[in-house]
Amino acid sequence: MERTFAIVKPDAVRRGLTGDILKRIEASELTIVAMRKIQLSRADAEKFYDVHKARPFFKGLCDYMTSGPVVVAVLQGEDAISKWRQLMGATDPKKADAGTIRKDFGIDVEQNATHGSDAPETAAQEIAFFFAAREILS
Ligand code: RTP
Ligand code: MG
Repeated sequence: MERTFAIVKPDAVRRGLTGDILKRIEASELTIVAMRKIQLSRADAEKFYDVHKARPFFKGLCDYMTSGPVVVAVLQGEDAISKWRQLMGATDPKKADAGTIRKDFGIDVEQNATHGSDAPETAAQEIAFFFAAREILS
């Protein structure tokens, strides 16, 4: 059993796609074990994306991620990290496989509908950034 961290990003929440995205998660082998709708502060976004702070897209990314509410969630299942990234598809919707969330719902390489952790260490950090242990179903 593994856990990963997911975000329905502002572009998707704004366009009323939260339900469609959660439906795909629920139709998969992943279980939603925690979830909340929140507005990220500038400080939240900058801390969350700290690994990207030297990238040219960092400011734009933080502007975008604070542009409206997001849904944050913890997903659990066997190989949850790679399964969730497979469901999402490639970062750039143009390069994502058919049937993936980013292919179907992403706008561009920045406004790409969802976030998913990329490794066990980042998953643990990202989950702890948003959820207390008692908020996650066991
Ligand atoms: P994420 O972290 O959101 O799951 O996405 P990822 O691993 O597929 O992509 P990553 O390289 O970690 O980039 C984080 C997010 O930054 C935005 N981005 N913009 N303008 C650009 O060239 C660019 N590249 C990345 C995207 O929102 C991406 O998901
Ligand atoms: Mg990433």
